[in-house]
Amino acid sequence: MQPDLPNYSFHDLKPALADFRREVHNGLAATPRRIAPKFFYDAAGSRLFDAITRLDAYYPTRTEIGLLKAHGAQIAALLGRGATLIELGSGSDVKIRTVIDALAPAEYLPLDISGSHLHRAASGIARDYPALQVHAICVDYTQPFDLPPTTDAHRVAFYPGSSIGNFEPAEAVRLLQRVARMLGPHGRLLVGVDLKKDAARLTAAYNDPEGVTARFNRNLLVRMAAALGADIALDAFAHDAFYNAALGRIEMHLRATRPTTIALDGARYDFAPGESVHTESSYKYSVDEFVALAGAGGFEAERVWCDAEQLFSVHCLRVG
Ligand code: AVI
Repeated sequence: MQPDLPNYSFHDLKPALADFRREVHNGLAATPRRIAPKFFYDAAGSRLFDAITRLDAYYPTRTEIGLLKAHGAQIAALLGRGATLIELGSGSDVKIRTVIDALAPAEYLPLDISGSHLHRAASGIARDYPALQVHAICVDYTQPFDLPPTTDAHRVAFYPGSSIGNFEPAEAVRLLQRVARMLGPHGRLLVGVDLKKDAARLTAAYNDPEGVTARFNRNLLVRMAAALGADIALDAFAHDAFYNAALGRIEMHLRATRPTTIALDGARYDFAPGESVHTESSYKYSVDEFVALAGAGGFEAERVWCDAEQLFSVHCLRVG
């Protein structure tokens, strides 16, 4: 994973496969059944997520890119140039290139759980920005970890894509508190957050007619079979995504369409038709709701940009 680039390093703090195995057993034994969405992101899952970001129905990515491009100068004025830029969940190439072009950081530390995806994206950045020091870190950033040594430039973080919405609000607060500590006093966080909107638009974004989101969801089962040796009748589970208005979140489930059993390491998990594994929540926030969440996470709101249709928001937050 170390191409011959003087400005690139790869740090492997990848979680052990045992974590995935334990999470699957715990999640399938729980009521209701659930497996955390971070386990979607093996190489195939990351590729499928990239494909989702290009779907017509999935408005968040192109809307966020539009906001970053339209407001790059203001973003740079707030975040400052020459920073140590930390990206949580190295995602879209277009987004980070837009931010790098605006901020001209001294170093860039992308963090991601999917090693091959991270390496491809981060080494591409190192190649295209030879003056930028790129230190890619393969890590589950929801767990405590140590950053490699950085310069003493001020730290800013970029957390795009509304990934913060994939956490329960209390977990999101804990994650923001850890990010605030990582950034230190005066640190700033640029975070993309999907806005509440009508249920039909939200539901359509997670039920594309091309079936890519369904493949992304079902890839979790494929991964459980391939990586853990689980015995699963893949065709017995269907993708189910709907908006839970009471909780303000999209829920994704893998729902049994007939009686079936997942067998893993001698344990058997039986499903009646209609029973599901909850695989992802994607919370949607109003601007005020997110500002309150960020406040609980140790950040003060500095500026927010929304598109004309009020689909998506990009917040600039300062460690409080
Ligand atoms: C990464 N995350 C913010 C996406 C979302 O919208 O919750 C993942 C996703 N799941 C289905 N489509 C996209």
